[in-house]
Amino acid sequence: MKSFAKLTPEEAAQLINNGETMGVSGFTPAGSPKAVTVAIAARAEAEHATGRPYKVNVISGASTGRSTDGVLAKAKAVGFRTPYQSDSEMRKSINAGETQFFDMHLSKSPQDVRYGFLGPMKLAIIEACDVSDNGEIVLTSAVGASPTFCHAAEKIVIELNRYHPQFLRGVHDIYEPGNPPNREIISILKPSDRIGSPVVKVDPAKIVGIVETNTPDETGSFSAVGPMTAQIGQNVADFMAREIRRGLIPPTFLPVQSGVGDTANAVLMAMAEHPDIPAFEMYTEVIQDAVIALMRQDRVKFVSGCSLTVPPDTLNGIYKDWDFFKNRLVLRPQEISNSPEVIRRIGVLSVNTAIEVDLVGNVNSTHVLGRNIMNGIGGSADFARSAYLSIFICPSTAKGGKISTIVPLVSHVDSSEHSVAIIITEQGVADLRGLSPGERANVLIANCAHPDYRPLLRDYVARAESIHSHSPHQLQSAFRMHHAFSTQGDMRQAQWE
Ligand code: COA
Repeated sequence: MKSFAKLTPEEAAQLINNGETMGVSGFTPAGSPKAVTVAIAARAEAEHATGRPYKVNVISGASTGRSTDGVLAKAKAVGFRTPYQSDSEMRKSINAGETQFFDMHLSKSPQDVRYGFLGPMKLAIIEACDVSDNGEIVLTSAVGASPTFCHAAEKIVIELNRYHPQFLRGVHDIYEPGNPPNREIISILKPSDRIGSPVVKVDPAKIVGIVETNTPDETGSFSAVGPMTAQIGQNVADFMAREIRRGLIPPTFLPVQSGVGDTANAVLMAMAEHPDIPAFEMYTEVIQDAVIALMRQDRVKFVSGCSLTVPPDTLNGIYKDWDFFKNRLVLRPQEISNSPEVIRRIGVLSVNTAIEVDLVGNVNSTHVLGRNIMNGIGGSADFARSAYLSIFICPSTAKGGKISTIVPLVSHVDSSEHSVAIIITEQGVADLRGLSPGERANVLIANCAHPDYRPLLRDYVARAESIHSHSPHQLQSAFRMHHAFSTQGDMRQAQWE
């Protein structure tokens, strides 16, 4: 390590100029840069103060911490941004048109960088817990797209974060697929299989310097499970137990993927508590709090993921009990944790959250009223499209009942009806497998819509059915509920034409 120059964050910030593109390490706030990006934001503000333009393009693994997206968006320092974000400042900047954001499947964004589809990458800012003279980089709490960024970027700056112990060497399984026509099979047959290296190997000449930090991940805590999320979790667990009884899920169970957030935590807790669901393994993207608690109870036997997105207290507990955890988890690049090839092969049971669902089962995970982005598609469709069983969950209403999450037609499509098998709200379960669009509409209204909205939705379908078609739609009324919320503040005010 002696051979690498020590840089201040401000010196590192000089390595990227207006209009250039950088790749940042991590996945969620786990492993994302915490020093150089802050200095780049300060540089942007200084440049803007003198009237000079300064914006960089930011490609990440997924969302980042406030010291990346938050400060950069606030400084108006981001030209284009991809593939995912969840920061309130960044969201504001995107929805105001200041930052050009394009939403991408997280399994796919690294290969688009490798193929050159997103242009040249000037700089990779990579958080590591260790780096050797011969260019072996040990990442921290996430892998994300760091291996690809290290190989694609002209220069690499390492944020050497002493907060993370060097004994993390061994938890990562770094494997980068080749480019077609020379890509090989990703030979993972079960979540615990390892196919790569514990380190990212780069030409040490590309590492232009090291910035030392000692900072925890900027990961928030989750809320306690409330009655709504508990009911959704219970409905998911009961449904899975029923599928075991029907012989449609093997009694030994299958690897589980669960999305991010409070509802996903509640689902995992309910599954783990269900007496008819055996202890299971996970092949997932984000490893969050509930997973760690369930590993300690031996309800989750092994987890493969892309990031350890847990609050600092939980992470410290994991590091303290490293002997227990080190053989029970693996962190992979997002191309592998979210690989459709692997997900389809090993038969993942996938549970993701929807913003809204329409009467034939199309899911919107990203846009509010079709216009403003919330976070992005993330890995939801990587899993949904290839899963053994693709479940989407959401409360039946939002904003105190003024929004129905079951609508005639989604205002934006992320996972189409072809990728969606089961919808679950606190009201119940709509099993869409083997149903035509009209049948789907009836099951969704009866089992998932809130009772306040059932008459309205039934009336919509009845009017649509009166004109006989394959899909129960009337184009002139399909967005009336969205329009009613926009103009009158309540979807219940919708009137059909
Ligand atoms: N219309 C308008 N707003 C809606 C809405 C709807 N149909 N449904 C939810 N919302 C709002 C909520 O009111 C809430 O707003 P607030 O922040 O102002 O309170 C916000 O959206 C988030 O909803 P919440 O119920 O708290 O859900 P969540 O935190 O579980 O997030 C998603 C839900 C869909 C936004 C989130 O799961 C996501 O970004 N998913 C896409 C990526 C993904 O699935 N990743 C994991 C894959 S591995």
